[in-house]
Amino acid sequence: MKKWKRLLLAVLVLFAGAQLFNPARTNPPVKNDFLTATQPPAAVAASVRAACYDCHSHETVWPWYAHVAPVSWLIVSDTTEGREHLNLSDWPTEPDRAIKKLDRINEAVDDREMPPKKYTLIHANARLTETQRKEILDWTDAAAAKLRATTTNQ
Ligand code: HEC
Repeated sequence: MKKWKRLLLAVLVLFAGAQLFNPARTNPPVKNDFLTATQPPAAVAASVRAACYDCHSHETVWPWYAHVAPVSWLIVSDTTEGREHLNLSDWPTEPDRAIKKLDRINEAVDDREMPPKKYTLIHANARLTETQRKEILDWTDAAAAKLRATTTNQ
């Protein structure tokens, strides 16, 4: 067998073998949905759903390539990590915790940290315009201020 054929075969075998190690793509039941609990204006809700829900909720839309290793490893680990940091399907009912989360969302969008660039590169509908960013910033500020007014802790 020619060298390049052997190499190609090795790559194919590795690729096929990797498929045996596809991690589970789970969407557990939604506990307390962020958008239902906080009722932001429709425009903000649409932006957050399009730009954040794939990684920060239990309503992830798994694309076909999320089923193919090694890409699946990256996508599943991003989603697991994203849900650990901020789970929009498990929104806190305690005002002080909700205030902190609203502030974090505000910071992440303000700093252009979120949604991550590697994600918006592929998901054009998750790219936020300046107007959409401002709507999210204004609303999270107002919602956090409103909650602060109801609690003495903050
Ligand atoms: C491609 C997946 C992905 C998308 C889309 C995404 N995030 Fe994230 N997000 C992550 C990951 C992974 C982390 C944890 C690691 C880090 O901070 O980079 C994170 C962290 C965060 C944190 C930090 C939480 C903390 O502990 O301080 C906030 C807030 C956040 N994201 C908000 C958002 C918002 C708001 C959107 C939508 C505008 C969004 N994210 C979109 C993957 C994503």
